Amino acid sequence: MIMKLSPHITAVHTPPITEVKRWLAERPTDGRELIDLCQAVPDYAPHPDLTRHLAGLLDDPLTSKYSPDEGLPEVRGAISAYYGRKYGATLSPDNFCLTIGASQAFWLAIVTLCTAGDEVVVQAPAYFDHPMALEMLGIRSVYAPFSEEERGIPSPATIEGLITDRTRVLLVVSPSNPTGAITPPATIRELFTIAKRHGIALILDETYSEFIPEGARPHDLFSDPAWGENFVQIASFGKTYALTGYRAGQLVASAAFIRQALKAQDTMAVCQPRITQQAIMYGVNHLDGWVRGNCDMMCRRHNLFRQLFVQPGNRFRLAASGAFFAWVRHPFGSMSGRDVAKRLVDEAAILCLPGEVCGPGLEGYLRLAFGNIKETAIPEAVQRFRDLNS
Ligand SMILES: Cc1ncc(COP(=O)(O)O)c(C=O)c1O
Repeated sequence: MIMKLSPHITAVHTPPITEVKRWLAERPTDGRELIDLCQAVPDYAPHPDLTRHLAGLLDDPLTSKYSPDEGLPEVRGAISAYYGRKYGATLSPDNFCLTIGASQAFWLAIVTLCTAGDEVVVQAPAYFDHPMALEMLGIRSVYAPFSEEERGIPSPATIEGLITDRTRVLLVVSPSNPTGAITPPATIRELFTIAKRHGIALILDETYSEFIPEGARPHDLFSDPAWGENFVQIASFGKTYALTGYRAGQLVASAAFIRQALKAQDTMAVCQPRITQQAIMYGVNHLDGWVRGNCDMMCRRHNLFRQLFVQPGNRFRLAASGAFFAWVRHPFGSMSGRDVAKRLVDEAAILCLPGEVCGPGLEGYLRLAFGNIKETAIPEAVQRFRDLNS
């Protein structure tokens, strides 16, 4: 007899990036190099001083050992200082738990807050991994719809209208993956106030916060003395320091919340690898200027992409865009995002994500991670969309 699998896992769709990358094996070769706008990965290498610093640590026997579950105190201390600069926040090392990417931080947050049968209000379009994780845990995603008029900025009134007595979390990603939309600090404050009023959590995934133009402060929630009662932050250093493979994430919450989450941390990962912790510490201590330079470069990419994409003659329409991503309406009404994305691979040598992986009813859209490609490659990428207009 064959073992049975959990229906919670079999019901979930294949990871979208894996699915889309499989199409490449069947791609007709027309001599054109693929333009990969699919998985969001900065195209540049980590800072060479960071890499050299890590190389020098490899002989240290401590590097290969476990650390405390939440991470080394000196690393969390350095991150607290960085939060002082970035958010004007006075946080303690006890507010941080270093994780295997922001992905694991999300799991820690959810298993600490929810049980099967609970509901999470998810701003659509969602970062696809979030509803996938929720579905596996038997938690229902209740979608706040995407509004083209609002260009992907969440509506607090709409979100509040979706809260029921099963709701445990309001989930927002800012800057958004997949729209790039940057939720203004005042709107984030409103969402926090709603969470407070209903005795639930606001989870904010800020994986792309270092790509907010001009290093503007993402929000002021940490200045509220009671922030930890209703706010949980998911953060990643993966995109910030071009270290996606190091799995450099963290959960930021009240010390009491972190103490509970550590029970899950111990069973899932024990700790973030020490080499990753050292990379983060080097980054927060030395690389503010480098990060800012990359942010400026991403803004230039966005400006150029937007300027070229919206010129007359392109039937693909920019529905929203911002940090790292563009959310585009395709012109082939009857086709799904999947079919159009597949066509783009085969006929335009462009790899991107179909909109429907980000929530129900989004078949008319595509997600483009223009942050993956250099400014010099952007005109060619946009031209390939224009050429697929018929
Ligand atoms: C919104 C969002 N959250 C979390 C993640 C996962 O980040 P990490 O690589 O740190 O796990 C990503 C990665 O693309 C993301 O886009």
